[in-house]
Amino acid sequence: MSPEHATPPRIAIAAAGRHAGESVEIAGWLYNLRRSGKICFPQVRDGTGIIQCVAVKSALPEELFEKLKDLTQESSLIVRGKIRAEPRAHGGYELDLESAEIVQRVPEADPYPITPKEHGIDFLMDHRHLWLRSRRQHAALKVRAEVIKGIRDYFDSHGFVLVDTPIFSPAACEGTSTLFEVNYFDEEKVYLTQSGQLYNEATCAAFGKTYCFGPTFRAERSKTRRHLTEFWMVEPEMAYSTLEDVKRVGEELICFVIARVLEHRREELATLERDVTKLEAVKAPFHRMSYDDAVKKLQSKGSEIQWGGDFGNTDETLLTDDLDRPVMVDRYPSAVKAFYFQPDDQRPELALGVDFIAPEGYGEVIGGGQRIHDLDLLLKRLDENRLPREAFDWYIDLRKYGSVPHAGFGMGVERFVAWMCGLEHIRETIAFPRMLYRTRP
Ligand code: 4AD
Ligand code: MG
Repeated sequence: MSPEHATPPRIAIAAAGRHAGESVEIAGWLYNLRRSGKICFPQVRDGTGIIQCVAVKSALPEELFEKLKDLTQESSLIVRGKIRAEPRAHGGYELDLESAEIVQRVPEADPYPITPKEHGIDFLMDHRHLWLRSRRQHAALKVRAEVIKGIRDYFDSHGFVLVDTPIFSPAACEGTSTLFEVNYFDEEKVYLTQSGQLYNEATCAAFGKTYCFGPTFRAERSKTRRHLTEFWMVEPEMAYSTLEDVKRVGEELICFVIARVLEHRREELATLERDVTKLEAVKAPFHRMSYDDAVKKLQSKGSEIQWGGDFGNTDETLLTDDLDRPVMVDRYPSAVKAFYFQPDDQRPELALGVDFIAPEGYGEVIGGGQRIHDLDLLLKRLDENRLPREAFDWYIDLRKYGSVPHAGFGMGVERFVAWMCGLEHIRETIAFPRMLYRTRP
């Protein structure tokens, strides 16, 4: 083949700007098509961007032009031509089409189900496998990927070692009522993990500072815009640490990840019509408040909450509706928290735990605190919570062999991403959400 007939190099649409004036090949899907007589404008997307192609009838073989001008939405195709700067075009570039190959044509009789018209949420969720191609969904998932990368970069560069924890778990961490049971071999029962924390407590005694990052499961019958039954959580744990360290690290982590998102995902945030000034306003120091004061504040704003109760979604929203950054609420009554919290020295009825409540109604994004390090106290708490000591034998060991004050937290990725993207509902922050009434696609 002579050089002038060689296939031009394949590029990603996102890189079009580096190839202005060059002949290139782009492999993608037909996003949209406009036409007017002797010219048509197929918009091609390839996952990295969208580019408008210009196909002129007189410059192309007749058969190709006819195929292109009637091409159906989401048909797969490979286009070739020259990149040209075009300030009016989305992305700043267009492709003057010279040749094209239709890889698979979507049949007219069974067209792509998602059209530019409005669809109901159930329809879209049923077609989640296709809906992911839409611009807003695509943008939200790119923000998610950036958030995850930012979280990993933060911990990897601050002395934490990644030690992942198991998903099949023999015991409850966050309370027995939200466990998914799994049949293991020989009639043994195991559960899908609710949190890697208990294992993190073992690994932090081995490595000093660790984190785990993976899916966690909650059999919660809550049908809210903040709850999934399967969600991703990052959980750091630090030996020789206290509640104050949790506040410091959580605050630093949030600021670090927001800065990353603002640095790398401006375009996606614009697609999502996110008001970025809201994110830019999130700076350390965050607000700090005791549970006692939070209850008073809520009562003064008309909440029914009484001391001793846990905050509901509306309480969390009420608590931050006058704030531009998260509030860290600490020292909850032990009775509403999990068994493992270290009690406050001065007021043992309080747990040394903290929740970070995000502004704009996004609710609790981080929960954590200081763990019990004393053996006798831990045994007492296990008994009080009717948790069988046998299931926790290894966890109890950690209080026998070099026990130290230690602390950590968990941050839910989807709640954090919903906040970054300004999304109404958490279901759009994960590719295939699992919720009370949805396990498909
Ligand atoms: O407050 P949680 O239940 O804390 C723990 O699991 C601790 N063991 C973590 C630790 O200290 N290592 O959950 C932590 C975070 C919440 O703040 C929230 O962001 C998220 O996980 N989360 C959920 N996200 C989506 N759907 C759900 N059902 C969630 N439950 C908790
Ligand atoms: Mg919590």
